[in-house]
Amino acid sequence: MSNLPARDLPARDLPPHDVADLDLAPDGLARIEWADRQMPVLAAIRERFEKERPLAGHVVAATMHVTSETANLLRALAAGGAELTLTASNPLSTQDVTAAALVAEYGVSVYAIRGESNETYYKHMDAALDTRPTITMDDGCDLVNRLHAQRADQLHLVVGGTEETTTGVIRLRAMEKAGALKFPIVAVNDAQTKHLFDNRFGTGQSTLDGIIRATNVLIAGKTVVVAGYGYCGRGVASRAKGMGADVIVTEIDPVRALEAAMEGYRVMPMAEAAPQGDIFVTVTGNTSVLRQEHIEVMKDGALVANSGHFDVEIDVATLSRTATDRRAVRPNAEQFELADGRRIILLADGRLVNLGAAEGHPAAVMDMSFAGQALAVEWLAQQAGNLEPKVYDLPDELDADVARLKLESMGKAIDVLTPEQEHYLSSYDIGT
Ligand code: ADE
Repeated sequence: MSNLPARDLPARDLPPHDVADLDLAPDGLARIEWADRQMPVLAAIRERFEKERPLAGHVVAATMHVTSETANLLRALAAGGAELTLTASNPLSTQDVTAAALVAEYGVSVYAIRGESNETYYKHMDAALDTRPTITMDDGCDLVNRLHAQRADQLHLVVGGTEETTTGVIRLRAMEKAGALKFPIVAVNDAQTKHLFDNRFGTGQSTLDGIIRATNVLIAGKTVVVAGYGYCGRGVASRAKGMGADVIVTEIDPVRALEAAMEGYRVMPMAEAAPQGDIFVTVTGNTSVLRQEHIEVMKDGALVANSGHFDVEIDVATLSRTATDRRAVRPNAEQFELADGRRIILLADGRLVNLGAAEGHPAAVMDMSFAGQALAVEWLAQQAGNLEPKVYDLPDELDADVARLKLESMGKAIDVLTPEQEHYLSSYDIGT
């Protein structure tokens, strides 16, 4: 229920939408404005877009987590002149208050309801595709997939798309390799100002936040098993260690495993970690990471959570099949009792725990990721017709712009090279 005073909705016509409850809009507006305070880079881009209108005439379909941070990204794109539709990139990550505010306060078409079925998820995506987008924005590649699989007749309309997450970029590179990708995509995830910050500090903090909100467990003194030591895994491991956990890392990549070991984590296969862990977090981007052989040896009361994009990392089907009893013990925490009496607690249905049980990454870090998104969309509009159907990096100068603006907003200055230093860096004859 709203704890803000009810207000009459603006008198304007509402755009087409399917959201849980438009009466939630005042709470959503407050949340969007609160996030905006932490998103100065995106706000600067929004102000420039208002003047320059670089997206006028473009129809943007976005399939992204429906959060207050995403709402601020859409405000920037709307200021740039784009016509917008937003659908969820995960059935459990939608903030219904934010969806309501986007429709009622900002006039954005939103199709997203927290907890929607898979069928509704795709029905919503189809409604976005019905707008005949010229630019797509994805978080996980589901929209691009659907467009290629079911709307081949619309592919020629699209000048390009953006992708937010590691998993989506992996899928897109596979499409490109197979010759299946039919329009250019900017891999925003791969920008330095995205994955070095969002994936580490964002996933690190918000994953612990999700686990704590769902369970209120003390992290100090617990054994936390982190599966996967990519940028997201590094973030989770470092935050868990910082809160006093004994952290075990599992990996399949020898270099990453070595890095984890030299960072001071215990490194071992999951089969060895399974009987030791109190809390398990999967962040591999792969399937069946926690499966029957691991569940069989876990301690009574073990908490299992996923922070990878898809809900495939924990074998929930096996957990369900082998459980003799299954019940919710708290919001976003479900207990599976096994035949031998052990209880395993699954958080947020095995979906992204940071968005399912908490609010996702904090706005201050999404400021950089979504500044990259906004600049990528502008770049695609500028390059329309000049690009190949490939996966592109965000141009380096745009990546550097995001870093520069973020530093400025934090009141931090950096040094500049002296002429002597510039000369030194470009010469090769000055030695000992
Ligand atoms: N992905 C992770 N955190 C997010 C957030 N707060 N908003 C949108 N997408 C996200």
